[in-house]
Amino acid sequence: MIINPKIEKYLEKLSFEEKNDPIIKEMEEIAKKENFPIVGSLVGRFLYIITKQKNPSLIVELGSGYGYSAYWFAKALNKGKVVLIDYQEKNIEKAKEFFKRAGLEKKAEFKVGDALEIAKEYKNIDILFLDLEKSRYLEAIQSLEKNLSENALIIADNVLWHGKVINEKPDKKTLAIKQFNEYMFKHYFSAIIPIRDGILLSIKNS
Ligand SMILES: C[S@@+](CC[C@H](N)C(=O)[O-])C[C@H]1O[C@@H](n2cnc3c(N)ncnc32)[C@H](O)[C@@H]1O
Repeated sequence: MIINPKIEKYLEKLSFEEKNDPIIKEMEEIAKKENFPIVGSLVGRFLYIITKQKNPSLIVELGSGYGYSAYWFAKALNKGKVVLIDYQEKNIEKAKEFFKRAGLEKKAEFKVGDALEIAKEYKNIDILFLDLEKSRYLEAIQSLEKNLSENALIIADNVLWHGKVINEKPDKKTLAIKQFNEYMFKHYFSAIIPIRDGILLSIKNS
C-alpha cells in the first residue's frame, strides 16, 4: 500500500454509497475471494467523477477483467460508451452478465483479444484507461497516440507499482512502469495521484 493503511480504511469508510449497489458489492466480493486485482472503490469513485465531468463519447479500457472499473465508467456515462477489452473470454462473459443485470449493456462494447490490437480499431478516444500487463504500458500509449481525440485524457493504474518505483535496482516490470511514467511526463502534461497503487492522469501538451 502506498498510503497509510489506516488512512485508506478511513477513505473506504467514507465511500458507503457503493455498499448499496449490489453489483459493485458482488464484484468486490469476487475480487476478495479470487484475489483478483480490481481498481477498488477509491479509484472507482475517481473514474466516476472524471467521467461525469468530461462527458466523453468514447472510453477505451485496456485490461478490463470482469468489468469492475468499466462499471464505474458506465455508471457515469451520459451518451457515450465504454469499450471493455480483455484477452480472457471468461472475464468478458462475466462482465457482460454484470452489465446486463445492471441495465448498462447499451453503454458498453465487449471485446475479447489483445487490447492493443483491438484498441487500434477505435478513433477519437476521449478517455484511454490502461490497466493491462505493466510491461506493455509504453507500447500501448505509443501505438494509440494517433487514436486519441484532441482533448483526450489518459488514465493509467498501478504507476507507483507497490512503491517499487523508488527501488534503486528495479526489476523488469518496475523498470517498464518507470519508463512509461518518464515518457508520460515528458510528452504529455501529467500528474500522479498516490491513491491505492498510484493513478496517472495525462492530457496532451498544448
Ligand atoms: C488488473 S486486471 C484489470 C482489472 C480491471 N481494470 C478492474 O479494475 O476491474 C488486468 C486484466 O488485463 C488483462 N490483460 C492483460 N494484458 C492484456 C492484453 N495485452 N490484452 C488484453 N487483456 C489483457 C488480464 O486478463 C486481466 O484481466
